[in-house]
Amino acid sequence: MPSPASALAIDAREVAKTFRSGWLRPRETAALRGATLAVPRGAIVGLLGPNGAGKTTFLSILATLLIPDRGTVRVLGLDVVRDSMALRRRLNMASGRPSFLWSLRVAEIVAFYGRLYGLSGAALRARVDALIEQYELTPYRRVPYSELSTGLKQRVALAKSLVNDPELLFLDEPTLGLDPDVSMRVRAHIAALRRERGVTILLTTHYMREAEELCDEVAFIKAGRILDAGTPDELKRRIGLGDVIALRLEPAAPAWLAEAPGVLRCASADGWTKCTVDDAEKRLPDLLRQLFAEGVTVRNVRVREPELEEVFVELAR
Ligand SMILES: Nc1ncnc2c1ncn2[C@@H]1O[C@H](COP(=O)(O)OP(=O)(O)O)[C@@H](O)[C@H]1O
Ligand SMILES: [Mg+2]
Repeated sequence: MPSPASALAIDAREVAKTFRSGWLRPRETAALRGATLAVPRGAIVGLLGPNGAGKTTFLSILATLLIPDRGTVRVLGLDVVRDSMALRRRLNMASGRPSFLWSLRVAEIVAFYGRLYGLSGAALRARVDALIEQYELTPYRRVPYSELSTGLKQRVALAKSLVNDPELLFLDEPTLGLDPDVSMRVRAHIAALRRERGVTILLTTHYMREAEELCDEVAFIKAGRILDAGTPDELKRRIGLGDVIALRLEPAAPAWLAEAPGVLRCASADGWTKCTVDDAEKRLPDLLRQLFAEGVTVRNVRVREPELEEVFVELAR
């Protein structure tokens, strides 16, 4: 269902960007080829796609850091090109590959960015202390940036990106290269930002699981175009990917099984009968009841939900 324009934090239409590089042998790379994306206020939306799909380019345009060749982009109701200065006070961005001056200490980095937004004196100190505490960086506040682990660098980037209390946050691969337990903590921090402060978040990732866990909606991007967008469940339903109920039956599967309500496909191999259904929770009780009623023994049942990855593979065909 389309949202009214005022409910959108991001309304980007037909955005195109081509990079021109080289002098002796000029090269052109079309990074975005008419990408369209809407992000509701207060949502966490994931931009998913392989390397080189145009994710960072798109984020940079939305965050006013790059000017698009074509298209209209309204962010928080403002135009990203004309109103870039006003917008910059209200948004922020963090990269999963952060780079800050190697010799600066953690507290100095956060304070440096605070000053860029006009903070000073006691207000600056209070903001720096609060962010450092929130991101569990207190033991590291005097450690030079170059001595931090990848996970700590990512947390410094996240703390720095909140220094202006943004309404809208862009996170470019926020868990890139992190161990599973560390990336889980980063995801918890991201979820808390929306829950506690109502920040709208657009993040890029190439981990489908991350998107499925964290995002209300996902948009698939490939070769500079958005292939489809929606909630993970909507996308799965639209592509026609059902849940798979695998059954070990004795004797073999009765013929009616393939025709039962909600069953999309049914096939038997290696002693397992795999039924693809529209909704496993809805269909499983009736299927089992009917099998029992006919004296079929169910030795084992496994239910598997489709994964976002499969949606992307289908879309990218
Ligand atoms: N500054 C640049 N100059 C030239 N080409 C670029 C530049 N930035 C990105 N590209 C190219 O644009 C395409 C999209 O890149 P990018 O937006 O970084 O993708 P992603 O973040 O999805 O990996 C790639 O082919 C990349 O090589
Ligand atoms: Mg990128």
